[in-house]
Amino acid sequence: MTMQWWRDAVIYQVYPRSFADGDGDGVGDIAGIRARLGHLRDLGVDAIWMSPWYPSPMADAGYDVSDFRDIDPVFGSLSEAEALIAEAHEAGIRIIIDIVPNHISSEHPWFKAALAGGKERDYFWFRKSQNMPTNWTGEFGGTTWTQTPDGDWYLHLFTPEQPDLNWEHPDVRAEFESILRFWFDRGADGIRIDSAALLFKDTTLPEVVDGEPHPFHDLDAVHDVYRSWRRIAEEYEGRALIGEVWMPDVERFTNYLRPDELHAAFNFDFLGCAWDPYLMRSCIDRTLDAHARVGAPPTWVLSNHDVTRHVTRYGRTDTTFSFENNLDGTPVDLELGTRRARAAALLTLSLPGSAYIYQGEELGLWENENIDPDQMQDPMYARRGHTRDGCRVPLPWSGDEPPFDFTTGVPWLPQPAEWKDRTVQAQTGDPNSMLELYRSAIGLRTFTDTDFAWLDRGEGVLAWTRGTDFACVLNLSDAPVPLPEHRDILLASSSLDGDLLPRDTAVWLRL
Ligand code: NOJ
Repeated sequence: MTMQWWRDAVIYQVYPRSFADGDGDGVGDIAGIRARLGHLRDLGVDAIWMSPWYPSPMADAGYDVSDFRDIDPVFGSLSEAEALIAEAHEAGIRIIIDIVPNHISSEHPWFKAALAGGKERDYFWFRKSQNMPTNWTGEFGGTTWTQTPDGDWYLHLFTPEQPDLNWEHPDVRAEFESILRFWFDRGADGIRIDSAALLFKDTTLPEVVDGEPHPFHDLDAVHDVYRSWRRIAEEYEGRALIGEVWMPDVERFTNYLRPDELHAAFNFDFLGCAWDPYLMRSCIDRTLDAHARVGAPPTWVLSNHDVTRHVTRYGRTDTTFSFENNLDGTPVDLELGTRRARAAALLTLSLPGSAYIYQGEELGLWENENIDPDQMQDPMYARRGHTRDGCRVPLPWSGDEPPFDFTTGVPWLPQPAEWKDRTVQAQTGDPNSMLELYRSAIGLRTFTDTDFAWLDRGEGVLAWTRGTDFACVLNLSDAPVPLPEHRDILLASSSLDGDLLPRDTAVWLRL
């Protein structure tokens, strides 16, 4: 792979709490990841993105960081992290770490010093005011201001334990530049940037008004930060910046991907798109056009640790995803969802650009919607009534019952007993399993730098070629359709119906 590896990489998201537990405390850790690196090598992924592993009070599962230059003891130590980076590199796998610049933990020394009245107060958004300074609604729902004992208010777009940093302050900028260098010096190949569009706020603190510029989404000043991060990344070789940018306007979204800014960003437009031929095709076209204009690689994302697993989404009547439209607990046909998820894997792995796999999607895991409210840990639940815990359940590795060798203790969230045929062990060697489908597809993905072109196969069918001898055909109509002329069938997501491609099935063809 070229040094611009991020342009067509398959990137696997490890959610450290739930990947594998090495010490029996029921929470995944670096020892567990190191012991299971073979799974990722066998899957054939190019890189791993690690969700935060830093010291944290875990008010938001580690997205409340109290020290960016160390590892939380629940996950291990800095030297174990360095060993993991080295071992991944030996296995040909790059490592992307997660940096959270919008906010830090209320237990971070800066915030403690700020509360004590130090100069660090200016690193945050403290306001003196009789009433709450604004009526903004936070990203998890609820208010965005908390009052301190001295009567001042501080801003937090997420939980009160995640005070927002003041990016107008040069010390904040300097600190994060130093954190980037800290991890690049330790071999990190990329940085995933959390809440990348939220960093700046309108300092006059206006209310949110429809049709007016938003006071804290996507302020132009943020681009200057990413330009300076890009310059830092370029001091090293082959390092990528990948933004978490939720942005309905695709033009504003690709502003983050201009040649001197981020290398890539997650395609949430695609993630939220319905399983529908017209909507999917227009989403793909919109993505390809917008990225081509700035010369950035498109990305294809089906799931992550914040959204309902796509086996579940695609098994519902409403197959879209958005935080505003809570579908938790609505009826799901898991067989249909699984069939579509298999087809979606062949779709995302054959479009131009890079593809993201969220841990467990290669096993066909579904959302665990049966977690007892007392066991839920996600702070979003109390504020929005939607929980992200259901997609964060520990992976099943082997055995016939929970904890499926995830841990020798009790997993921090319960696993469904029905996952016994979704373990890595149960699926390995079974040609019909989701795991073998992913392994084969990633292994066959050799067409990545060839041209993309749509192929017209009629209503409800999405078909495209890559170069001259590869095609993917996905049947989203409600009847079987004939295949185009081909030499071989390389891979099919479900069995064919004689010569016909059944509905909700994708096939890779050699032409
Ligand atoms: C996005 C992360 O993916 C999510 O898990 C987290 O809660 C918020 N940002 C706040 O950091």
